[in-house]
Amino acid sequence: MKKQKIIIDTDPGHDDALAIMLMEKSKLFDILAITTVAGNSTIQNTTNNARFVLDLIESEIMLYSGAGAPLKQKLIKADVHGDSGLDGIVISKQEKLTNNAIDKIIENVINSPDEVIILALGPLTNIAQAFIKEPSIISLVKSIVIMGGAINVPGNKNRVAEFNIFVDPEAADIIFQADIKKILVPLDVCNDVFFTLDDFKCIDDLKLYKIIYDMMIKYIDNIYVFEKTKGAIMYDPVAAYYLINPQAFTAVEMNVQIETHGKLTRGMTVADKNLWSEEEKNVSVIQSVNKKEFREDFFRIFNN
Ligand code: RIB
Ligand code: CA
Repeated sequence: MKKQKIIIDTDPGHDDALAIMLMEKSKLFDILAITTVAGNSTIQNTTNNARFVLDLIESEIMLYSGAGAPLKQKLIKADVHGDSGLDGIVISKQEKLTNNAIDKIIENVINSPDEVIILALGPLTNIAQAFIKEPSIISLVKSIVIMGGAINVPGNKNRVAEFNIFVDPEAADIIFQADIKKILVPLDVCNDVFFTLDDFKCIDDLKLYKIIYDMMIKYIDNIYVFEKTKGAIMYDPVAAYYLINPQAFTAVEMNVQIETHGKLTRGMTVADKNLWSEEEKNVSVIQSVNKKEFREDFFRIFNN
């Protein structure tokens, strides 16, 4: 059976790293490209980290670096991933930045019209820039799965905004206004999906386990400091899992807009909760995931 074509746009990031490994090791997808964006750390660091992950799993997926800053504001990095974006791992190799992620997104979508799904795991800057540069691709993208937003829970970067949207609200607004199939995997679902260090002992490959252990011990410490959760929150792997097993999720169609001006609310995903309203429903908002199936499939795939 023909494999689903995927572009993974990402800002590794401990959870991004696991999501990339999950997607590649699942062997279910034709991953056309990994495109990196500044977010959890600088574009140099997120690209270094992406290369580290691809080398770790001996993957040949093409890697292209993208935007080093959001569309309108300066980069505000995450706290939980450390300065390098992959606290716990020492990376000395500086990956050469290709600076062509936007063109590669455009090229891959034009070459495979109506076939490419974009998995967006970081700020939406690259994808928005691709839509600005070549608006014709908006109707050619099959769908976009976005880890981001907070609907009925607090934000994790200000009182109401989730990090990926907060970093580049203008980019998110372009995506949410675009006539494209959007699936949003918000904090409402991800916050409750986390693994402890003990859970990672389910990984059989000792070399892989030791590296993931070194990554996770730092990530878990940082998550507790900033989120008070006692485990590694699986934000991006949950979003990736939607593509692996969509039946494990429930969703509701909503109208969601992005706040780009609010002094206290900039970056908020503002949902119309009157589901009976005539407002056009522009997003499928994920409401739940079967955590047991996620955990079982996660470790089954990592032991592939
Ligand atoms: O809010 C969680 C998101 O922000 C995840 O994608 C994580 O990697 C960070 O980028
Ligand atoms: Ca991310």
